[in-house]
Amino acid sequence: MSFSGKILDWYHKNKRTLPWRKSTDPYKIWLSEIILQQTRVAQGTPYYLRFVETFPTVDDLANAEEEQVLKLWQGLGYYSRARNLHAAAKMVVDEYNGKFPDNYKKLLTLKGVGDYTASAISSICFNEPHAVVDGNVYRVLSRYYGIDIPINSTEGIKYFKALAQKVMDPDHIRDYNQGIMEFGAIQCSPKKPLCLHCPLNDSCVALEKGLVHQLPVKLKKTKVSNRYFNYLIPIYKDTNGKKYTRLQQRKGKGIWQNLWEFPLIESKSSLENKDIVLKSNVIFGDLDINDIHIYNDTDIVHKLSHQHLYTKFWIVDVNTDFDHKISVEKLSEFPVPVLIADFIKAFKF
Ligand code: ADE
Repeated sequence: MSFSGKILDWYHKNKRTLPWRKSTDPYKIWLSEIILQQTRVAQGTPYYLRFVETFPTVDDLANAEEEQVLKLWQGLGYYSRARNLHAAAKMVVDEYNGKFPDNYKKLLTLKGVGDYTASAISSICFNEPHAVVDGNVYRVLSRYYGIDIPINSTEGIKYFKALAQKVMDPDHIRDYNQGIMEFGAIQCSPKKPLCLHCPLNDSCVALEKGLVHQLPVKLKKTKVSNRYFNYLIPIYKDTNGKKYTRLQQRKGKGIWQNLWEFPLIESKSSLENKDIVLKSNVIFGDLDINDIHIYNDTDIVHKLSHQHLYTKFWIVDVNTDFDHKISVEKLSEFPVPVLIADFIKAFKF
């Protein structure tokens, strides 16, 4: 049996029942594919269900406030994906009269839609013979065919797309594409592939040569930079005992654009209490500060793809009322980075 025949056979026996698999509505498939680029099926499924429930149609998503989209996306990270999702929905409404593009070429015109997403949607919804290449596919193909070209090099990207296109089954593309991704997620997994009971184990080059754990090859990413974040959490208690704090929206380029966070002091190295006392007077102006103390003695290291954020949270008790305050019960309404959400949850105001 051919490679694609075995993948299809495996898929028919092993496929998971997933909510978006009931549908060939391009809007729903698009939502699921964008979410699954960010996370695994188990974590992504509840996000998918919340999105389709909140925005049953592309019109609903296009008409939403960006804040609501970011809030629903909260926790998935890489928030430009959520902003692109929103922008693409607006494009479908404004430029395609609300009808989702129905072929690969038109799909590519949408914000945030590249070769992977256009291939996935056009094959799953419209049976177009475009092979998908995601992380799972790189792993399966590099191992089965014993290819050590780095998957994140220009050459590798081109090579694997052509190989994927050559070995796909164009007559069963919907199941073949989902099958090879599913196979990569479950059978040919990164750390513990199930080679002993694999339908491809009599012809897998990596297995034969003992290279399963060496493939795929990935070039080392650019250097990670360290940043030092000091969040100041002002807390004011009114005469009824109601507590207030302050959030501000992150603007400009860079991480977490348009998400909310506590007032921030970024520094070149770790700061001490006395530095914070000085700087908080600048940030909070003439507020009557009662006490400043650190919440976490050791830095919380929040790791993003290219940055490690060494973070301290400082509790600033203030005696006077202040502008732009929000009651602590309202904190959950704001889209915030996971780093901030985790703090809010742990701190219990
Ligand atoms: N990963 C991303 N999209 C997928 C799909 N449609 N099926 C299986 N795994 C996936």
